Amino acid sequence: MTRTEKAVEAYDKYVMKTYPKADILFVKGDGCKLWDGEGREYLDFSSGIAVCSLGHANEKIAEVVAEQARTLVHVSNLFMNEKQCALAEKLITHGFDGTCFFCNSGAEANEALIKLARKWGNEQGKNEIITMVDSFHGRTLATLAATGRAKYRKGFGPDVQGFSQVPFNDFEALKNAITDKTAAVLMEPVQGEGGIIPADPEYLKAVRELCNEKNVLLLFDEVQCGTGRTGTLFAWQNYGIEPDALSMAKAIGNGFPLACMIAQRKYSNVLTPGTHASTFGGTALASAVGCCVVDMLCEGGVLENCRKQGEYLMKRLSSFVGKYPFVKEVRGKGLMIGIDLTFAPSAEVLPALREKGLIALPAGETVLRLVPALTVTEEECEKAVQIIDSVFAEIKA
Ligand SMILES: Cc1ncc(COP(=O)(O)O)c(C=O)c1O
Repeated sequence: MTRTEKAVEAYDKYVMKTYPKADILFVKGDGCKLWDGEGREYLDFSSGIAVCSLGHANEKIAEVVAEQARTLVHVSNLFMNEKQCALAEKLITHGFDGTCFFCNSGAEANEALIKLARKWGNEQGKNEIITMVDSFHGRTLATLAATGRAKYRKGFGPDVQGFSQVPFNDFEALKNAITDKTAAVLMEPVQGEGGIIPADPEYLKAVRELCNEKNVLLLFDEVQCGTGRTGTLFAWQNYGIEPDALSMAKAIGNGFPLACMIAQRKYSNVLTPGTHASTFGGTALASAVGCCVVDMLCEGGVLENCRKQGEYLMKRLSSFVGKYPFVKEVRGKGLMIGIDLTFAPSAEVLPALREKGLIALPAGETVLRLVPALTVTEEECEKAVQIIDSVFAEIKA
């Protein structure tokens, strides 16, 4: 039996089947490269779903993990640890003035946003939250209710109340939906799972003004599009407007579980002692990793590389529109890129790319999603383009 066959058998027997899983066993990573159990090399343009933005097995992060694990791992949030406040200071210094709540996953960070909005809103008799069609906010019951794709909620009723959805990038729809019961509007500045759809800058500016006028919180889910992915540390920095609070997760730990909600200072006292908590939120170990990630993103030229390689990929991939009749559009921001096709990529395209050594992702119904590490090189981008080109050339559509 090969290493892969052994894993397939063990997964089959012992792991709950909640994921559509490819029969590939990864055993090693380095930067944008991955190796499977049989020693085959792959170019990874998925980054563990936009998580390993500084590459696999990053040496600096490995050193920080080892050193912090030998020094102090966890003391609970009833006491202080120096790494947590250092990370909070870094995030605030690089973003807007406010305070952080640390947790472990995107769904948890969004739960914190929802609780912040409800606590603030309930004090003034309003607690409803408007979210966007095709959004994705997580798999807990509240974040599922916020998510704008009904298929994820199927079978898990009754739904958590207090959420409604409007089409994304449609200002009039949002304006008409806001009532005196609306506490907050929650959206991803660039929709990820929904199909790599960036917000229109004029739309976001108008939404910001509308929320100010109606005294409604504007909340950004930056779980996927934040932490450098779109070429700035925070996604809102692309748009010139600030949200009232945001969530971040995924890349902030480069694979180590870490997430955060950040609220503007005027909302910093909404959640008071005892109203929200997380045992593992902001441990010394996770926070040490977070500090290293922020430093490397902001000081090491990684954001510049993200913008540069993003432009290169967009330019190269855009040539597929016209060349292949089934490529409808190439869109995105930074290194969050979607190739919109006339069919779902999961059945044919993704396995064919894997066969040729490229790992990519689906998004929405028909989008091929590329989210390589932000440290990706031009040669690696070109190699990915050529693999995609050769797979597209074989498609009869
Ligand atoms: C925009 C967005 N929000 C929230 C989540 C949920 O994050 P997690 O799986 O860490 O709970 C995701 C995950 O893909 C996401 O893309």
